Amino acid sequence: MKAAITATAKYLPPDILSNRDLELMLETNDEWIRSRTGISERRILKDPAKATSYMCGEVGRLLLEKRQIAADDIELIIIATMTPDMLFPSTACLVQSIIGARNAWAFDLNAACSGFLYALNVASRFIESGAHKKVMVIGADMMSSIIDYTDRSTAILFGDGAGGVILEPAKEEGFGILDTRMYSDGASGKDRLLMTGGGSLHPATHETIDKKMHYIYQDGRQVFKSAVVAMADVAGEIMSRNNLSANDVDYLVPHQANQRIINATAERMGVDDEKVVSNVARYGNTTAGTIPICLAELDEEQKLHTGSNLVLVSFGAGYTWGGIYLKWQ
Ligand code: UT7
Repeated sequence: MKAAITATAKYLPPDILSNRDLELMLETNDEWIRSRTGISERRILKDPAKATSYMCGEVGRLLLEKRQIAADDIELIIIATMTPDMLFPSTACLVQSIIGARNAWAFDLNAACSGFLYALNVASRFIESGAHKKVMVIGADMMSSIIDYTDRSTAILFGDGAGGVILEPAKEEGFGILDTRMYSDGASGKDRLLMTGGGSLHPATHETIDKKMHYIYQDGRQVFKSAVVAMADVAGEIMSRNNLSANDVDYLVPHQANQRIINATAERMGVDDEKVVSNVARYGNTTAGTIPICLAELDEEQKLHTGSNLVLVSFGAGYTWGGIYLKWQ
């Protein structure tokens, strides 16, 4: 049996960082940010005692509440993140402890902006194989922890947030996650979007701090070009492999990095604007959080019905990218 989503949830921290706020910090302006990215504001987790595991814990608790199951019913927790609370233990183990899922095993998966789609794909295999019946998959990033707020090329783009789902065997054949296509291209991507400090190559030293190596670096223009091509290609591939016309697609749920990338993907698919999910204006790019936050909002707005066809697509550091076709049950 295929894996189906049986609950969705999201958590966005309450504090807002608006384009106007950024104007006071950097040489930038609201008009530039909105016209080049579509972003108006983003959320920032300001409490120094809280980090990615906190946001995931909030999502986890909500998921259990919505699905009306106990924490002990969860068999596996996968957290997609590139901003774990710490290098180890995994954020997934911290989340297991927060929600009290004593019977689960738990691990992190890092595929940057494609993390949630990679994790959803991995989780679906445990359901399809019959190994597990209830898996929690959360995508979350606290991007404010790795942003240099004096660098206008990245500071304007990212925000903090988390979203997640519970996956279970679909009740009927023909529903759930029906197709997945995942890609990586380290040769092209490894130098374009990265954080060099704090890992085994450049462990933290005074020098790495002075050189700002604990912040995100992005070659925005190159990443933009690659993202437009890869997201459109994988969306097209998912449609043709599954004989989906633009009319058949109820929602395109794209990674939320830049409204111009979202528009280019939708255009290539021939999908009308009202079917394209976008909240990048309100949250910016929350990396692994974007797609599950979109799913949670669609669900809250009661837009998902039995038989709704969803195409999810992402692109991010690595490079990593992918697409998933799912039929809502
Ligand atoms: O999540 C997956 C990974 N990330 C992405 O998908 C992001 C991909 N990249 C992008 O979204 C875009 O490349 C950016 C939004 C980062 C930049 O947009 P762009 O249209 O590619 O601008 P640009 O980097 O080519 O810069 C154009 C101009 C430059 O000035 P000059 O050289 O033309 O005089 C920049 O210095 O805009 C300037 N600029 C800014 N001006 C005001 C760059 N950042 C800013 C800023 N405010 N924040």
